[in-house]
Amino acid sequence: MMSGSGGKIHAGRSRLRPFYLCTFQPTLCRGSCATGLYNAHYLARRFGGHLKVLLLENISGAAASQFEDAGFEVQSLKGALDERELIEKIPGTAILGVRSKTHITASVLDAAPGLVSVGAFCIGVDKIDRTACSERGIAVFNDPHSNSRSVAELAMGEIILLMRRTFEASTQLHAGVWNKSAAGSHEVRGLTLGIVGYGKIGSQVSDLAEALGMRVIFSDVSHVLARGNARPVSFRELLETADVITLHVDGKTQNQDLFGEEEFRAMKPGACLINLSRGFVVDHEALAGHLKSGRLAGAAVDVFPREPESGANFVSPLRGLANVILTPHIGGSTEEAQQNIGQFVSSRMIEYYKTGSSLLSVNLPQCHLEYEPGTHRLLHIHHNVPGILRAINDILADRGINIDRQVLDTRGPIGYAIYDINRDCDDELLAKLRSVPQTIRVRVPEQSRR
Ligand SMILES: NC(=O)c1ccc[n+]([C@@H]2O[C@H](COP(=O)([O-])OP(=O)(O)OC[C@H]3O[C@@H](n4cnc5c(N)ncnc54)[C@H](O)[C@@H]3O)[C@@H](O)[C@H]2O)c1
Repeated sequence: MMSGSGGKIHAGRSRLRPFYLCTFQPTLCRGSCATGLYNAHYLARRFGGHLKVLLLENISGAAASQFEDAGFEVQSLKGALDERELIEKIPGTAILGVRSKTHITASVLDAAPGLVSVGAFCIGVDKIDRTACSERGIAVFNDPHSNSRSVAELAMGEIILLMRRTFEASTQLHAGVWNKSAAGSHEVRGLTLGIVGYGKIGSQVSDLAEALGMRVIFSDVSHVLARGNARPVSFRELLETADVITLHVDGKTQNQDLFGEEEFRAMKPGACLINLSRGFVVDHEALAGHLKSGRLAGAAVDVFPREPESGANFVSPLRGLANVILTPHIGGSTEEAQQNIGQFVSSRMIEYYKTGSSLLSVNLPQCHLEYEPGTHRLLHIHHNVPGILRAINDILADRGINIDRQVLDTRGPIGYAIYDINRDCDDELLAKLRSVPQTIRVRVPEQSRR
Protein backbone atom coordinates (compact mmCIF):
# COMPACT_ATOMS: atom_id res chain seq x y z
CA MET A 1 0.00 0.00 0.00
CA MET A 2 1.39 3.43 -0.88
CA SER A 3 1.35 6.13 1.73
CA GLY A 4 0.27 9.68 1.01
CA SER A 5 3.88 10.89 0.96
CA GLY A 6 5.05 8.45 -1.66
CA GLY A 7 6.42 5.75 0.65
CA LYS A 8 5.41 2.18 1.22
CA ILE A 9 3.54 0.75 4.17
CA HIS A 10 3.98 -2.93 4.93
CA ALA A 11 1.93 -4.63 7.61
CA GLY A 12 3.87 -6.93 9.91
CA ARG A 13 3.26 -10.64 9.50
CA SER A 14 2.22 -11.12 13.10
CA ARG A 15 0.80 -8.58 15.49
CA LEU A 16 2.82 -7.68 18.50
CA ARG A 17 1.18 -8.74 21.69
CA PRO A 18 -0.82 -6.17 23.54
CA PHE A 19 0.77 -5.56 26.93
CA TYR A 20 3.75 -3.45 26.01
CA LEU A 21 3.95 -0.58 28.42
CA CYS A 22 6.39 2.24 28.71
CA THR A 23 6.39 5.00 31.26
CA PHE A 24 8.09 8.34 31.32
CA GLN A 25 8.90 10.57 34.20
CA PRO A 26 6.56 13.56 33.68
CA THR A 27 9.27 16.19 34.18
CA LEU A 28 11.23 14.79 31.25
CA CYS A 29 8.33 14.68 28.82
CA ARG A 30 7.68 18.21 27.72
CA GLY A 31 4.35 19.15 26.22
CA SER A 32 2.58 16.05 25.06
CA CYS A 33 3.34 13.81 28.03
CA ALA A 34 0.98 15.25 30.62
CA THR A 35 0.31 12.15 32.66
CA GLY A 36 3.76 10.70 32.40
CA LEU A 37 2.33 7.29 31.51
CA TYR A 38 2.13 5.99 27.98
CA ASN A 39 0.83 2.61 27.03
CA ALA A 40 2.28 1.76 23.63
CA HIS A 41 -0.55 -0.62 22.95
CA TYR A 42 -2.91 2.28 23.50
CA LEU A 43 -0.74 4.35 21.15
CA ALA A 44 -0.69 1.53 18.62
CA ARG A 45 -4.50 1.30 18.68
CA ARG A 46 -4.86 5.04 18.43
CA PHE A 47 -2.52 5.24 15.46
CA GLY A 48 -3.76 2.21 13.56
CA GLY A 49 -3.41 -1.10 15.40
CA HIS A 50 0.24 -2.07 14.78
CA LEU A 51 3.46 -1.00 16.39
CA LYS A 52 5.03 1.21 13.80
CA VAL A 53 8.44 1.51 12.24
CA LEU A 54 9.15 4.63 10.18
CA LEU A 55 12.13 4.35 7.82
CA LEU A 56 13.37 7.44 5.96
CA GLU A 57 16.00 8.08 3.29
CA ASN A 58 15.55 4.92 1.23
CA ILE A 59 16.91 2.51 3.83
CA SER A 60 17.59 -0.98 2.43
CA GLY A 61 14.56 -3.25 2.05
CA ALA A 62 16.48 -5.78 4.15
CA ALA A 63 15.64 -3.67 7.20
CA ALA A 64 11.92 -3.44 6.34
CA SER A 65 11.78 -7.23 5.86
CA GLN A 66 13.33 -7.89 9.25
CA PHE A 67 10.95 -5.51 10.99
CA GLU A 68 7.96 -7.07 9.23
CA ASP A 69 9.09 -10.55 10.19
CA ALA A 70 9.24 -9.31 13.78
CA GLY A 71 5.61 -8.17 13.54
CA PHE A 72 5.94 -4.45 13.00
CA GLU A 73 4.13 -2.31 10.47
CA VAL A 74 6.77 -0.58 8.37
CA GLN A 75 6.47 2.67 6.48
CA SER A 76 9.44 3.41 4.19
CA LEU A 77 9.94 6.82 2.61
CA LYS A 78 12.50 7.51 -0.10
CA GLY A 79 13.64 10.94 1.07
CA ALA A 80 14.58 12.74 4.26
CA LEU A 81 12.01 14.85 6.15
CA ASP A 82 12.65 18.24 7.66
CA GLU A 83 11.81 18.85 11.32
CA ARG A 84 8.27 20.10 10.69
CA GLU A 85 7.42 17.22 8.35
CA LEU A 86 8.89 14.68 10.76
CA ILE A 87 6.92 16.09 13.68
CA GLU A 88 3.75 15.59 11.64
CA LYS A 89 4.72 12.09 10.55
CA ILE A 90 6.21 10.58 13.69
CA PRO A 91 3.31 10.26 16.19
CA GLY A 92 2.61 6.59 16.90
CA THR A 93 6.09 5.48 15.81
CA ALA A 94 7.92 2.97 18.04
CA ILE A 95 11.07 2.71 15.92
CA LEU A 96 12.57 5.38 13.66
CA GLY A 97 15.27 4.71 11.06
CA VAL A 98 17.24 7.42 9.26
CA ARG A 99 20.47 7.77 7.33
CA SER A 100 22.73 10.80 7.25
CA LYS A 101 20.37 13.62 6.21
CA THR A 102 17.56 13.71 8.77
CA HIS A 103 17.97 15.82 11.90
CA ILE A 104 16.47 14.20 15.00
CA THR A 105 15.84 17.04 17.43
CA ALA A 106 14.29 17.16 20.89
CA SER A 107 11.08 18.54 19.34
CA VAL A 108 10.87 15.54 17.01
CA LEU A 109 11.31 13.17 19.96
CA ASP A 110 8.63 14.97 21.95
CA ALA A 111 6.17 14.36 19.11
CA ALA A 112 6.65 10.58 19.51
CA PRO A 113 6.14 9.65 23.16
CA GLY A 114 6.10 5.93 22.32
CA LEU A 115 9.45 6.05 20.48
CA VAL A 116 11.73 3.30 21.82
CA SER A 117 14.77 3.59 19.56
CA VAL A 118 16.31 5.54 16.71
CA GLY A 119 18.53 3.80 14.16
CA ALA A 120 21.16 5.56 12.07
CA PHE A 121 21.50 3.20 9.10
CA CYS A 122 25.00 4.55 8.48
CA ILE A 123 28.10 5.31 10.55
CA GLY A 124 27.57 8.93 11.61
CA VAL A 125 25.11 9.89 14.32
CA ASP A 126 25.95 13.63 14.28
CA LYS A 127 22.44 14.64 13.18
CA ILE A 128 20.75 12.83 16.05
CA ASP A 129 20.45 14.72 19.34
CA ARG A 130 21.77 11.83 21.42
CA THR A 131 21.54 13.71 24.70
CA ALA A 132 17.86 14.38 24.09
CA CYS A 133 17.39 10.69 23.23
CA SER A 134 19.11 9.59 26.46
CA GLU A 135 17.02 12.00 28.52
CA ARG A 136 13.90 10.35 27.12
CA GLY A 137 15.19 6.78 27.47
CA ILE A 138 15.44 6.30 23.70
CA ALA A 139 18.24 4.02 22.47
CA VAL A 140 20.26 5.08 19.43
CA PHE A 141 21.96 2.49 17.22
CA ASN A 142 24.24 2.76 14.18
CA ASP A 143 26.55 0.50 12.20
CA PRO A 144 30.20 1.48 12.00
CA HIS A 145 31.41 -1.79 10.47
CA SER A 146 29.30 -3.28 7.72
CA ASN A 147 30.78 -1.23 4.87
CA SER A 148 34.43 -2.03 5.60
CA ARG A 149 34.73 -4.53 2.74
CA SER A 150 33.39 -1.94 0.28
CA VAL A 151 36.08 0.54 1.37
CA ALA A 152 38.82 -2.10 1.16
CA GLU A 153 37.78 -3.08 -2.37
CA LEU A 154 37.75 0.55 -3.56
CA ALA A 155 41.23 1.06 -2.10
CA MET A 156 42.47 -1.98 -4.02
CA GLY A 157 40.92 -0.82 -7.25
CA GLU A 158 42.45 2.62 -6.82
CA ILE A 159 45.91 1.19 -6.17
CA ILE A 160 45.81 -0.51 -9.58
CA LEU A 161 44.24 2.48 -11.36
CA LEU A 162 46.86 4.86 -9.94
CA MET A 163 49.82 2.60 -10.75
CA ARG A 164 48.54 2.22 -14.34
CA ARG A 165 47.61 5.92 -14.64
CA THR A 166 44.27 4.59 -15.94
CA PHE A 167 42.13 7.46 -14.76
CA GLU A 168 44.38 10.01 -16.48
CA ALA A 169 44.35 8.01 -19.74
CA SER A 170 40.57 7.71 -19.57
CA THR A 171 40.14 11.45 -18.95
CA GLN A 172 42.37 12.25 -21.94
CA LEU A 173 40.46 9.85 -24.17
CA HIS A 174 37.12 11.39 -23.10
CA ALA A 175 38.63 14.68 -24.28
CA GLY A 176 39.50 13.10 -27.66
CA VAL A 177 43.26 12.58 -27.00
CA TRP A 178 44.67 9.15 -27.95
CA ASN A 179 47.85 8.76 -25.88
CA LYS A 180 49.06 5.14 -25.82
CA SER A 181 52.12 4.87 -23.58
CA ALA A 182 53.67 2.54 -21.01
CA ALA A 183 55.65 5.34 -19.35
CA GLY A 184 54.95 5.60 -15.62
CA SER A 185 52.60 2.58 -15.73
CA HIS A 186 53.38 -0.31 -13.37
CA GLU A 187 52.06 -3.68 -12.25
CA VAL A 188 51.28 -3.77 -8.55
CA ARG A 189 52.84 -7.23 -8.14
CA GLY A 190 56.07 -6.86 -6.20
CA LEU A 191 55.40 -3.25 -5.13
CA THR A 192 55.30 -2.29 -1.47
CA LEU A 193 52.00 -1.18 -0.01
CA GLY A 194 52.13 0.83 3.23
CA ILE A 195 48.93 0.72 5.28
CA VAL A 196 48.54 3.35 7.99
CA GLY A 197 45.84 2.16 10.41
CA TYR A 198 45.51 -1.63 10.46
CA GLY A 199 41.98 -1.94 11.81
CA LYS A 200 38.89 -3.42 10.20
CA ILE A 201 39.50 -1.82 6.79
CA GLY A 202 43.30 -1.67 6.77
CA SER A 203 43.62 -5.38 7.60
CA GLN A 204 41.22 -6.33 4.77
CA VAL A 205 43.24 -4.23 2.31
CA SER A 206 46.28 -6.16 3.56
CA ASP A 207 44.72 -9.52 2.61
CA LEU A 208 43.60 -8.30 -0.80
CA ALA A 209 46.96 -6.69 -1.60
CA GLU A 210 48.90 -9.82 -0.68
CA ALA A 211 46.63 -11.86 -2.96
CA LEU A 212 47.81 -9.58 -5.79
CA GLY A 213 51.45 -10.20 -4.94
CA MET A 214 52.16 -6.90 -3.16
CA ARG A 215 54.56 -6.67 -0.23
CA VAL A 216 52.56 -5.26 2.69
CA ILE A 217 53.95 -3.18 5.52
CA PHE A 218 51.80 -1.39 8.06
CA SER A 219 51.91 1.01 10.97
CA ASP A 220 49.33 1.19 13.74
CA VAL A 221 49.38 3.01 17.06
CA SER A 222 47.78 -0.03 18.72
CA HIS A 223 49.24 -3.50 18.97
CA VAL A 224 47.50 -5.38 16.16
CA LEU A 225 48.09 -8.82 14.73
CA ALA A 226 49.81 -8.95 11.32
CA ARG A 227 47.91 -10.90 8.68
CA GLY A 228 49.59 -13.18 6.15
CA ASN A 229 53.12 -11.98 5.45
CA ALA A 230 52.38 -8.34 6.30
CA ARG A 231 55.08 -6.70 8.43
CA PRO A 232 54.65 -4.01 11.11
CA VAL A 233 57.12 -1.15 10.64
CA SER A 234 57.65 2.30 12.12
CA PHE A 235 55.68 5.18 10.62
CA ARG A 236 58.95 6.64 9.33
CA GLU A 237 60.03 3.40 7.62
CA LEU A 238 56.61 3.12 6.03
CA LEU A 239 56.86 6.66 4.63
CA GLU A 240 60.31 6.03 3.20
CA THR A 241 59.77 2.59 1.66
CA ALA A 242 56.17 2.27 0.43
CA ASP A 243 55.33 2.67 -3.27
CA VAL A 244 51.70 3.28 -2.34
CA ILE A 245 50.45 4.48 1.03
CA THR A 246 46.82 3.96 1.97
CA LEU A 247 45.31 5.62 5.05
CA HIS A 248 42.76 3.82 7.22
CA VAL A 249 43.16 5.55 10.57
CA ASP A 250 40.22 6.41 12.81
CA GLY A 251 38.79 9.88 13.30
CA LYS A 252 40.39 10.89 16.59
CA THR A 253 41.47 14.52 16.76
CA GLN A 254 45.18 13.63 17.10
CA ASN A 255 45.03 12.44 13.49
CA GLN A 256 44.43 15.99 12.23
CA ASP A 257 47.03 16.63 9.47
CA LEU A 258 48.74 13.28 10.06
CA PHE A 259 49.99 13.76 6.51
CA GLY A 260 51.43 17.24 5.89
CA GLU A 261 54.56 18.79 4.30
CA GLU A 262 56.99 16.80 6.41
CA GLU A 263 55.37 13.42 5.71
CA PHE A 264 55.06 14.09 1.97
CA ARG A 265 58.73 15.08 1.83
CA ALA A 266 59.65 11.82 3.58
CA MET A 267 57.70 9.70 1.07
CA LYS A 268 59.50 7.79 -1.66
CA PRO A 269 59.69 9.88 -4.88
CA GLY A 270 57.02 8.69 -7.31
CA ALA A 271 54.86 7.14 -4.59
CA CYS A 272 51.06 7.42 -4.52
CA LEU A 273 48.74 8.27 -1.63
CA ILE A 274 45.22 7.00 -1.01
CA ASN A 275 42.93 8.42 1.65
CA LEU A 276 39.57 6.80 2.32
CA SER A 277 39.63 7.49 6.08
CA ARG A 278 38.89 11.07 7.19
CA GLY A 279 39.35 14.34 5.31
CA PHE A 280 41.17 16.19 8.09
CA VAL A 281 43.91 13.55 8.22
CA VAL A 282 45.60 15.03 5.11
CA ASP A 283 46.74 18.59 4.42
CA HIS A 284 45.27 18.93 0.94
CA GLU A 285 47.22 22.08 0.02
CA ALA A 286 50.48 20.29 0.79
CA LEU A 287 49.34 17.19 -1.12
CA ALA A 288 48.42 19.30 -4.16
CA GLY A 289 51.85 20.96 -4.05
CA HIS A 290 53.68 17.61 -4.11
CA LEU A 291 51.47 16.28 -6.91
CA LYS A 292 52.07 19.42 -9.02
CA SER A 293 55.82 19.22 -8.47
CA GLY A 294 55.76 15.59 -9.61
CA ARG A 295 57.34 14.30 -6.41
CA LEU A 296 54.19 12.22 -5.84
CA ALA A 297 52.92 10.28 -8.86
CA GLY A 298 49.25 10.25 -7.94
CA ALA A 299 46.56 10.23 -5.30
CA ALA A 300 43.07 8.92 -4.71
CA VAL A 301 40.96 10.88 -2.24
CA ASP A 302 37.45 10.02 -1.09
CA VAL A 303 37.17 12.17 2.04
CA PHE A 304 37.66 15.92 2.41
CA PRO A 305 38.03 18.45 5.22
CA ARG A 306 34.83 20.15 4.04
CA GLU A 307 32.27 18.08 2.20
CA PRO A 308 29.38 19.93 0.54
CA GLU A 309 25.76 18.81 0.50
CA SER A 310 24.82 16.59 -2.45
CA GLY A 311 24.67 18.64 -5.67
CA ALA A 312 26.52 21.66 -4.22
CA ASN A 313 29.79 23.03 -5.64
CA PHE A 314 32.92 21.17 -4.57
CA VAL A 315 36.04 23.21 -3.90
CA SER A 316 39.47 21.58 -3.48
CA PRO A 317 43.11 22.30 -4.44
CA LEU A 318 43.16 18.74 -5.83
CA ARG A 319 40.65 19.45 -8.58
CA GLY A 320 42.00 19.23 -12.13
CA LEU A 321 45.30 17.51 -11.24
CA ALA A 322 46.56 14.65 -13.42
CA ASN A 323 46.46 11.11 -12.00
CA VAL A 324 44.29 12.17 -9.10
CA ILE A 325 41.07 10.24 -8.48
CA LEU A 326 38.49 12.22 -6.53
CA THR A 327 35.34 10.53 -5.25
CA PRO A 328 32.54 12.07 -3.15
CA HIS A 329 32.90 10.00 0.06
CA ILE A 330 31.56 6.83 -1.55
CA GLY A 331 34.13 4.39 -0.16
CA GLY A 332 31.50 2.56 1.87
CA SER A 333 28.57 3.21 -0.46
CA THR A 334 27.61 -0.06 -2.13
CA GLU A 335 24.30 -1.87 -2.29
CA GLU A 336 25.89 -4.77 -0.41
CA ALA A 337 27.00 -2.46 2.39
CA GLN A 338 23.55 -0.86 2.54
CA GLN A 339 21.95 -4.28 2.80
CA ASN A 340 24.38 -5.38 5.52
CA ILE A 341 23.77 -2.14 7.42
CA GLY A 342 20.00 -2.58 7.02
CA GLN A 343 20.17 -6.05 8.51
CA PHE A 344 22.57 -5.14 11.29
CA VAL A 345 20.84 -2.00 12.60
CA SER A 346 17.33 -3.46 12.35
CA SER A 347 18.40 -6.61 14.21
CA ARG A 348 19.93 -4.53 17.02
CA MET A 349 16.73 -2.44 17.26
CA ILE A 350 14.45 -5.48 17.29
CA GLU A 351 16.60 -7.11 19.95
CA TYR A 352 16.44 -3.96 22.06
CA TYR A 353 12.71 -3.69 21.58
CA LYS A 354 12.04 -7.30 22.47
CA THR A 355 14.60 -8.07 25.18
CA GLY A 356 15.99 -4.71 26.26
CA SER A 357 19.56 -5.60 25.21
CA SER A 358 21.27 -2.26 24.55
CA LEU A 359 24.54 -3.75 23.31
CA LEU A 360 26.18 -1.48 20.70
CA SER A 361 23.81 1.39 21.45
CA VAL A 362 25.73 4.65 21.01
CA ASN A 363 24.01 6.49 23.88
CA LEU A 364 22.61 4.12 26.50
CA PRO A 365 24.65 2.03 28.96
CA GLN A 366 25.51 -1.39 27.50
CA CYS A 367 23.18 -3.84 29.23
CA HIS A 368 22.48 -7.40 28.23
CA LEU A 369 20.85 -10.24 30.11
CA GLU A 370 20.34 -13.53 28.32
CA TYR A 371 16.61 -14.05 28.02
CA GLU A 372 15.27 -17.26 29.53
CA PRO A 373 11.72 -18.29 28.62
CA GLY A 374 9.31 -18.07 31.52
CA THR A 375 10.93 -15.10 33.21
CA HIS A 376 9.25 -11.71 33.46
CA ARG A 377 11.44 -8.82 32.41
CA LEU A 378 11.46 -5.18 33.47
CA LEU A 379 13.63 -2.42 32.01
CA HIS A 380 14.42 0.65 34.07
CA ILE A 381 16.23 3.68 32.62
CA HIS A 382 17.07 6.38 35.14
CA HIS A 383 19.41 9.21 36.05
CA ASN A 384 22.69 7.89 37.41
CA VAL A 385 22.26 8.92 41.07
CA PRO A 386 22.62 6.92 44.28
CA GLY A 387 19.68 4.98 45.71
CA ILE A 388 17.74 4.01 42.58
CA LEU A 389 18.36 0.27 42.80
CA ARG A 390 17.52 0.26 46.48
CA ALA A 391 14.21 2.00 45.77
CA ILE A 392 13.36 -0.49 43.00
CA ASN A 393 14.38 -3.47 45.10
CA ASP A 394 12.25 -2.20 48.03
CA ILE A 395 9.21 -1.90 45.75
CA LEU A 396 9.70 -5.46 44.51
CA ALA A 397 10.42 -6.87 47.99
CA ASP A 398 7.34 -5.15 49.50
CA ARG A 399 5.23 -7.12 47.01
CA GLY A 400 6.99 -10.41 47.68
CA ILE A 401 8.48 -10.39 44.20
CA ASN A 402 11.71 -12.30 43.78
CA ILE A 403 14.45 -10.95 41.51
CA ASP A 404 15.73 -13.93 39.55
CA ARG A 405 18.50 -11.96 37.86
CA GLN A 406 19.45 -8.36 37.34
CA VAL A 407 22.09 -6.33 35.55
CA LEU A 408 22.94 -2.65 35.77
CA ASP A 409 25.26 -0.41 33.81
CA THR A 410 25.77 3.33 33.73
CA ARG A 411 27.02 5.69 31.05
CA GLY A 412 27.64 9.25 32.13
CA PRO A 413 24.40 10.62 33.56
CA ILE A 414 22.25 7.63 32.56
CA GLY A 415 21.73 4.32 34.37
CA TYR A 416 20.02 1.28 32.89
CA ALA A 417 18.90 -1.84 34.74
CA ILE A 418 17.34 -5.04 33.44
CA TYR A 419 15.40 -7.16 35.93
CA ASP A 420 14.04 -10.66 35.54
CA ILE A 421 11.39 -11.18 38.22
CA ASN A 422 9.20 -14.11 39.16
CA ARG A 423 5.82 -12.67 38.23
CA ASP A 424 4.10 -10.55 35.65
CA CYS A 425 4.41 -6.80 35.87
CA ASP A 426 0.97 -5.24 36.32
CA ASP A 427 -0.16 -1.61 36.03
CA GLU A 428 0.09 -1.01 39.76
CA LEU A 429 3.71 -2.22 39.90
CA LEU A 430 4.63 -0.18 36.83
CA ALA A 431 3.09 2.96 38.30
CA LYS A 432 5.06 2.40 41.50
CA LEU A 433 8.32 1.91 39.62
CA ARG A 434 7.57 5.01 37.59
CA SER A 435 7.22 7.00 40.78
CA VAL A 436 10.82 6.26 41.82
CA PRO A 437 12.55 9.66 41.76
CA GLN A 438 14.95 10.14 38.79
CA THR A 439 13.20 7.48 36.72
CA ILE A 440 13.33 8.23 32.99
CA ARG A 441 11.53 5.26 31.57
CA VAL A 442 10.15 1.89 32.62
CA ARG A 443 9.41 -0.67 29.95
CA VAL A 444 8.25 -4.26 29.76
CA PRO A 445 9.88 -5.67 26.63
CA GLU A 446 7.72 -7.56 24.20
CA GLN A 447 9.72 -10.79 24.47
CA SER A 448 8.94 -11.34 28.13
CA ARG A 449 5.22 -11.63 27.42
CA ARG A 450 5.53 -14.56 25.00
N1 LIG B 1 35.32 6.50 2.85
C1 LIG B 1 34.29 5.93 3.43
O1 LIG B 1 33.18 5.91 2.89
C2 LIG B 1 34.46 5.26 4.76
C3 LIG B 1 33.62 4.21 5.13
C4 LIG B 1 33.87 3.54 6.32
C5 LIG B 1 34.89 3.98 7.16
N2 LIG B 1 35.66 5.03 6.81
C6 LIG B 1 36.75 5.49 7.66
O2 LIG B 1 37.83 4.59 7.57
C7 LIG B 1 38.62 4.69 8.75
C8 LIG B 1 39.01 3.30 9.22
O3 LIG B 1 37.86 2.58 9.57
P1 LIG B 1 37.98 1.19 10.35
O4 LIG B 1 36.60 0.66 10.46
O5 LIG B 1 39.04 0.33 9.75
O6 LIG B 1 38.47 1.72 11.77
P2 LIG B 1 39.15 0.90 12.93
O7 LIG B 1 38.87 1.65 14.17
O8 LIG B 1 38.80 -0.54 12.84
O9 LIG B 1 40.72 0.99 12.59
C9 LIG B 1 41.46 2.17 12.70
C10 LIG B 1 42.88 1.79 13.06
O10 LIG B 1 43.70 2.93 12.93
C11 LIG B 1 44.64 2.90 14.01
N3 LIG B 1 45.19 4.26 14.13
C12 LIG B 1 44.56 5.36 14.62
N4 LIG B 1 45.36 6.43 14.52
C13 LIG B 1 46.51 5.99 13.95
C14 LIG B 1 47.72 6.63 13.59
N5 LIG B 1 47.91 7.94 13.79
N6 LIG B 1 48.71 5.87 13.05
C15 LIG B 1 48.54 4.53 12.87
N7 LIG B 1 47.40 3.88 13.20
C16 LIG B 1 46.41 4.61 13.73
C17 LIG B 1 43.85 2.39 15.17
O11 LIG B 1 44.69 1.90 16.19
C18 LIG B 1 43.02 1.30 14.50
O12 LIG B 1 43.68 0.05 14.51
C19 LIG B 1 37.80 5.50 9.75
O13 LIG B 1 38.31 6.80 9.83
C20 LIG B 1 36.41 5.49 9.14
O14 LIG B 1 35.68 6.64 9.52
C21 LIG B 1 35.47 5.67 5.62
